[in-house]
Formats: sequence, C-alpha cells, structure tokens
Amino acid sequence: MGRFFGVALLAGLLPALARASVFSLSELPWSLKNQNGSIVVPGSVPSQAHLDLLKAGVITEPLLGINEFTERWIVNDNWTYTADISSFVKTLPKSSTQKTLLVFYGIDTIANITLAGHPIAWVNNQFQQYVFDVSDAIASPLGKNTNLTLSFESAWYYGLNASTRPDAESFPAVGVDFEYVGVRNWIRKVQSDFGWDWGPAFVPSGIHKPAYFITLSETTSAEASDAQSINTPILVSQSSIDIFKQGYAAVTGVAPNQAAPWIVNVSLAVHSVVAAPRPSLTLSIPELKLSSKPISLHALPGPGKGSNASISSPTWVTAQWSIPDSIPERWFPHNLGTPKLYNLSLTLDLGGAGQSFTFQTSVGFRTIQLMQTRYPDAEVAARGITPGDQWHFEVNGKAFYSLGTNIIPFDPFYARISDEQVRWVIQSAVQSGQNMLRVWGGGVYQPSTTSVALTANFPQHATDVYSFYSVCDELGILAWSEFIFSDDFYPLNDWLIDSVNEEVVQNVRRINKHASTAQWAGGNEIEGIVQQVAEDGFPGSTHYLDEFVTLFQDDLHDVAYSATNSVPYTDCSTTHGVLSVDPLIIRFGNATPGEIYGNSERYDYSAPDAFTISTFPVSRFVNEFGFHSMPSFYSWEEVLQSPDDFSFNSEVVMSRDHHPPAGSLAWPNPNAIQGQEQMSDAVELWLPTPGTSDSNQTFAQWCWSTQVFQAMTMYSQLAFYRLGAGRPENNLGALVWQLNDIWQGVSWSSIEYSGRWKVLHYVESTIFQPVVINPFWTAASETLEIAVTSDRWESVSGQAQWTWFNWEGKALNTTHKTFTVPTLNNSILYQEVGLSNILPNGTAATDVWLHMNLTAHVGQETVTNEQFFTPASLANATLVDPRIEVTHGPGLTFTLSAKGGVAPWTWLDHPSGTVGFFADKTGHPLNGFYLVPGADRTVTFQLNAALSRVKTPNPSDFVVRSLWNNTHV
Ligand SMILES: *[C@@H]1O[C@H](CO)[C@@H](O)[C@H](O)[C@H]1NC(C)=O
Ligand SMILES: *[C@@H]1O[C@H](CO)[C@@H](O)[C@H](O)[C@H]1NC(C)=O
Ligand SMILES: *[C@@H]1O[C@H](CO)[C@@H](O)[C@H](O)[C@H]1NC(C)=O
Repeated sequence: MGRFFGVALLAGLLPALARASVFSLSELPWSLKNQNGSIVVPGSVPSQAHLDLLKAGVITEPLLGINEFTERWIVNDNWTYTADISSFVKTLPKSSTQKTLLVFYGIDTIANITLAGHPIAWVNNQFQQYVFDVSDAIASPLGKNTNLTLSFESAWYYGLNASTRPDAESFPAVGVDFEYVGVRNWIRKVQSDFGWDWGPAFVPSGIHKPAYFITLSETTSAEASDAQSINTPILVSQSSIDIFKQGYAAVTGVAPNQAAPWIVNVSLAVHSVVAAPRPSLTLSIPELKLSSKPISLHALPGPGKGSNASISSPTWVTAQWSIPDSIPERWFPHNLGTPKLYNLSLTLDLGGAGQSFTFQTSVGFRTIQLMQTRYPDAEVAARGITPGDQWHFEVNGKAFYSLGTNIIPFDPFYARISDEQVRWVIQSAVQSGQNMLRVWGGGVYQPSTTSVALTANFPQHATDVYSFYSVCDELGILAWSEFIFSDDFYPLNDWLIDSVNEEVVQNVRRINKHASTAQWAGGNEIEGIVQQVAEDGFPGSTHYLDEFVTLFQDDLHDVAYSATNSVPYTDCSTTHGVLSVDPLIIRFGNATPGEIYGNSERYDYSAPDAFTISTFPVSRFVNEFGFHSMPSFYSWEEVLQSPDDFSFNSEVVMSRDHHPPAGSLAWPNPNAIQGQEQMSDAVELWLPTPGTSDSNQTFAQWCWSTQVFQAMTMYSQLAFYRLGAGRPENNLGALVWQLNDIWQGVSWSSIEYSGRWKVLHYVESTIFQPVVINPFWTAASETLEIAVTSDRWESVSGQAQWTWFNWEGKALNTTHKTFTVPTLNNSILYQEVGLSNILPNGTAATDVWLHMNLTAHVGQETVTNEQFFTPASLANATLVDPRIEVTHGPGLTFTLSAKGGVAPWTWLDHPSGTVGFFADKTGHPLNGFYLVPGADRTVTFQLNAALSRVKTPNPSDFVVRSLWNNTHV
C-alpha cells in the first residue's frame, strides 16, 4: 500500500519532473485486479501479476517450496492493470502541435490497451516494443474516463484458443512439451514460461519493461533554456548502429577485407511533430577527435493534417560514415585482446528552425564471421584435417577457440531481474576464462542497457530493467544470440509470421551496435527435430521439414540480413551445416560418410560413459553438453520449509527436478525419479557414497557430490574438445550447458540462482585457461596420454611436471618436461599403455593419483595450470583421513593444511546470505582441489557486497569439506 500512495504523491509533488517530455508510467497509481474483481491490489510498472500479488501479501514467494504448483491458479485467471492518468494529463502544456506517444518497451503478452475509454490496441508479442500516438484519446476522454487499462488474457487460455482455431495446424506429438502442453508455439512469449527441464512454469503476465508517455511539441528557445521543462519535437524510438568493413556483405559469408575502412551505418526511427525537409546527422567520436560532416537524411514529414495526423509510425532515416581502418582500436574478447569501446555521439539537426539534438551510445569496432564453407583440399592435406565443412568463428579475421556456456532466463519474472544479479553472472563467466555466451533461443532477447547515458534513444530514458549486451561489450565476452524459437514446430500463419518478422527486425537492429554480438541463430535444436520427424516417416512429415525451410532458411534469413550487415545468421543452434551459405541451403542429411559438418551436442546420462572418450562427439564445435546436479544445501535452505524436506528424494526436492519433464501438468513430476537416479548412480559409481550419522551432513554431501561428479565429467569433455583444436576435427568451440539458474532446483548450471558458484564453475576456471595440461585416460586399452593445449595465437613454450602420489601424500615419482605448442594446437608430452607401465612400481590403481602442472610464457605473462587424475574410481580409492586444519588470516583469507592424508576435492563453502568466490593470491578462482600434506593452500573469499545480504560474514561460518566427509562426520 505504501508504494501505491507514495508513487501517486511523487507525481503530484514534482511538477518539474512531470513537466519533462518523458513521463514514466511507473509514476501512475496502478491497480491490479483479477477477472471477477474478487482480488484488487496495488499494481506497478514494470512488473508482473505474480510480483504485485506477492507485494500485496496475497501470495508468498513463488519460488518457495511447492508454490510453483499451488500458485497455478494465477495462470488460470485474467489480470487487468488500470491507472488513472489525471496526474499526467494535468502536466500537459496546451499546444496545438503537441502529440503524446504511449511507449511500451515490452508487454507480457496478450492484452487489450484502452485509454480514456478508447481502444488503443490489442497486443500479442512480448518481444516487440510498441509506440501509440494517443493524443486524440487524451484530448477527448469518453465520459469522465481518465483510465489507462491493460487487460491481459491468460497466455495459457489464449494459446489453447489459438491452437484450436479452424485454421490452426496440428503437429506430431514428439515430446516437445514440458508442463503447459501444446500452446507455446502459438505465442510470442518466453518459451520456458510454459516449463522447461531446468525450471518452473509460471506463465506470468504484466507490463514487464519500462513504459512512458512521451510528449512531443515544437520547441521554443525560451522553453529550451529551462532545463526543467525540456520539450522536444522528436522521439527516436529505435536505432541501429551497424559497423562493418567497406565492401562487406554479411549475407555472402565472404571474408571482409580487414584493411578496408570501417562503415558506421546508423538508422534511426524518428517520430516528429515538425516537418523537416532537410534534416542531417553528424556523427563523432570525441576520444578520437573524429567527426563526420553533416550527413543529409530523408525528409521528416511531420504529422500532417487532419484526422490521420498520427505519428505512431516512425520515419526511418539512415546515414553512413566511413572511418579509416587505422584510426579506431579494435574490440577483442577479453582473453584475446582488449574490449575497446568508444562513445559515439549523434547530433540530429532538423534544419530550418535550427533545432539539433545530441545523444550518445557506446560502440566497438570488430569483424565477426562464422566460417561454414568447405575446408580447401590443400588445408586438409597440409594440416591433416578431416574433410568436410568448417564450423567456427573468426574475430577480426582470426580463428579462435570459443570457450563458454549457455545462458537461460535469469528469473521466471523478468521484471524483477536486477543489474547486479546479471552483471555477477557475466563477470563470473569472464572470471572463469569464458569468451562466449550462447543466449538460448527458448528464453528472451537479452536487453541492451539500463544506462540512459549509453542508449541511442532520444530523449534519453531507460528502456529496460537490466543490462546485458552492454556488460558483454564492456567485459569482452561474445554473445551468440538466437531468435525465440525452441524445440517445437512453429506454425506459418500470416498473423503469426507478421508479428515474428517485426519482432526480429526490432531486436536485430537494437543489438547491432553491440560489439559482443557473435551471430544470430534462427532458434534452438529445431533443425534436428524436423529432420528426425521426416526420417521417421510421420504422416505428412516432410511437410514440417518444408515449413522449417520456409521459416528458418528463407524468411528469417532474409529478415535478419535486412536488418544487419555485420553479424552472420544460421538457421539453428545445433545444425548439420549448410550446402551453400549464399543462397542459404541447409544440408540436413546430405552427408558424405567420413566427413564432418556443422556442430554437436552431447547428453549421455549413463554413469559408466561419463569419462569414456569414445562417447564424446568428434566435432568442429560442441555448442551444448551437460549433466545435471543438485543445488547446494544453502540453496535448498532458501526454499525448503520443513526439516523432513532435506533429503535427496523428498517430495519437495523431487518436485524441483523437472528432468525428464512431466510433459503435462502432472505434479510432482512423475519422471523426476529418473533424473534423481542419473545423479545418484553417477555419484555411487565414481565417488564414495555419502552416508554418515548426521542426516543434514549426508544430504549436504549428496548435493555437493552431484556437483563434484558434474564437474568431473564436464572437465573430461572440455579437455577433449579443446584437444580437438590440434586434431583432425579441428574443434574450435565448447559451450557448456548451462551457466545460470532460474530457481533453486536440479539443473545443469554452474552458478546457482543466488549467484553461488557450483564446483563446475571453479573447474571451468582451470580448464578455460589459455594453456592447459590434461590427462586422457582410455580404460579399455589402459592408455594414458598427457597433453598440453594452447588457444594462443602465438606459439607458447613452458615447463610441465607430473608426480604420482599415494593417498598418504607421499610423492612416488616425478617427471619434468619442457614443451612448445604451436598456434591453437597441442603437444603430447606422455603416452603409455598398460597400468603396470604407467603406475609407480608395485602400486595399485586405487592407491595412487597423479598431480600435473605447468608454467608457460604467454607474451609478457606467466601462466600456470594444475590438474588431477585418478586411474581408478574415487569410490574405490583407499582414502586416508586428511585431518584438514583451517587458519583464518586477515580479511576473509583461509589457509588449509592436511595434517593426515590427501584430501581429494577439498572445498570451501561460504555462509548463506553471501555471494562471492574464492581466489588464490593472484586473484584467480581456486576451490575444489587435492590438498596434499605439506602443501598448504591459501584462498581469499572475494565478497560481492551488492548481492550479499550478509556484508561482514564471520570466518567461522565458512565450512570446509572433502570426499572424506561423504563417509565421516
Ligand atoms: C480467463 O479467460 C479465459 C478466456 O481466454 C477464460 O476461459 C477463463 O475462464 C478466464 N479465467 C477466469 C478465472 O475468469
Ligand atoms: C477507472 O479505474 C478505476 C480503478 O480500476 C475504476 O474504479 C473506475 O471505475 C475506472 N473508471 C472508469 C470510467 O472505467
Ligand atoms: C480484447 O478486445 C477484443 C475486442 O474488443 C475482445 O474480443 C477481447 O475479448 C478482449 N480481450 C480482453 C482480454 O479483454
């Protein structure tokens, strides 16, 4: 209630704010009611119905306990947001040339908009922004109605209605549904809102992004000098800043000339209340003391006269500016150079009246290409490459290794995602050495920025609730982006495709200016599904393949390239590649045996396969692969409400495992037992089975052990894919499924919902290093190889050593070796067959383990890497009580000593309410290592104060565990 009245008062008391041309709808007194009016609570913008019901105390936190189930009634109701706009109308100056635009940066999803009794629009696409000229509605309210109303229809009911229309197609049932069945392909809404195998299904609704009244009027010089009442005659509601090399045509896939000048291609969507026959745009980069001449633009017609004088639709104007190649410094991913950004200043001059408007945005200069054509025969012969097509990225003309992860939505409720939360996830990715994130196509088009200083919208105002691409630009991490289509058949009705095309154009244009953008993929995993359906001979099955071709090969390809000339487009995330890039012809099953095309995934939930190299894909690029794990005990504490819930297969825990999905609204997920067993089978096979006299400790060790196993199997795959850079497959990419979590549940993530790093995230921090030393063990032939792999563009040399230890911590033998690794390649340092030749004399596989490390010189820097290997399952290792002692140093520094035997997977937990990571003295992440007697380890906890509820944690609340604690209290 407080907020309800507070907001209303604020608008009334601040005439200065209200006099400005930008009036945020968040300042209106909103109310939210359900269909029959039995619930009426204060509403807000940006928000979603669940969040306002939570704030009003009608429901408890949706992520608590089994609320995903008990709060389903919200999805079955229809929610209406209403606000009296009188407080806004009062502030409007009276002027005959004035126009008021109602601007929504996002509406989730199906809603009727009514203003002062006049219908304004029916909207149906969460991924579009909407601009309506509402001047007439405001000027002539019906009766005394001064309400702005958005009546949302439940997306679930809307979908059911749409899918049963007489003109609606039906689709084969091939298991593409998670919870809410059969509707998501009919709605342009976050696909995982209807359920996914790593998250809940809340199907929210509301105005989930900022929204405004923006009033345009002719400026007079007197008004313009009054800073509190900035009137503007224009709104720039969309922009595209596309930077590429002169002569480049992204659609052809032909490499740009790196020495050619840069072309900065600016397009602006201008709504203007004045006609400007000869406007111009001047572009400048102050840091480079570089400025264009005024570039002439298209005339702006103004609103015209009479009843059709609406400025809902913008006029697009375009200008090109050429900059010599040598002037700007290039943007590189952080691990290959500096992510250099410049402020670009845009001055739009309307001519005549002498009015000009300057605004800014940040841009970077880079070329990005997706190489998909055939490897030339000469290269195949010279480098020993398996014939077939390339599939990798090149930045600024150079091939590089893509190291990264996949991201999913950051919260089930978009409106409450915070800048701090997202920045932490992206920063954590960078901290672990990643240079690429894949923005998965079942979620959202990620936003640009909340920083009004860095938008290309004018007048400046925040257009989103959190920043994504601007953070990627700044931190130097590439973002492979996707249109929102995932694991489903998508109908080709015109009414849907028109909406899709507009959505795609808006988002491609918006994201062009971000140097971090790496590619657009049409969607996620659909190519494989339609190909499979066609091969399985479902009735009419080639029809679905044809429809896929129409949408993803033809339509979206053309729409994407109509809006960008800097970023490549492919039809699908996981693909068998192309027969031709230009025109685009998808390869599907058109393959020559023995050749390699496209990219791959790997999901194998059979525990015995976890480390079997022959089950890993031999591919140019592995764009998703994963294994699920439990969240930590700390995350369970946030959502479990009864002591009985704290066990591996309790009903609440099982209800938060959606793998494999229910495929219906059945609750709790009847298939969860399979997902739970995959984790427990793997732990039992590869680690000491947790079981102690303390049930909470046993549960905590179970949760943690699933994370240790996840980290181990992902590590061995990552090592193999990176090794592929120097093998015939020429593998140049590995993106782990997945980076972040949407709730506290069972998932494939490396970072939990709170921001807490799982074991996998620390392991990624070792295997994503530029120069790595890895063991490759083939149990069937008892073969051990040790290789050094480098992703550097220069050749790298250094020293490696490896030592066999027993579990008491005695070093049995050590080998030293120097190495040189060519560009993006390997050096095999050791190869031996037969355990009796490999193991130190007279030892058994269960009694020993191998420690490996290296020091390498990369440019001016010295880099190190460390790995561990056991020739037998740790379940059978003859572990010795490590008797770990911890000493607290200054700050949150901890020194760990093993006073007994070796402690495999020694791990520190930070207390609940804290977010951060443990680092060694160089600042590099360190946790989850083998602690050896006599070799103490010191780590410091780097606290993220913005995200931590507990700002000064007590050192004694930090917990140390190792595999020993699986079986010992
Ligand atoms: C919400 O609207 C749908 C029609 O789309 C209707 O079938 C449903 O009964 C409504 N829900 C409630 C609680 O009124
Ligand atoms: C305006 O909205 C309020 C709050 O929902 C409502 O009580 C009032 O009846 C509405 N006015 C009109 C004219 O519909
Ligand atoms: C939206 O308006 C249309 C046309 O007036 C109407 O048929 C539909 O029921 C309305 N939907 C909602 C959710 O109010």
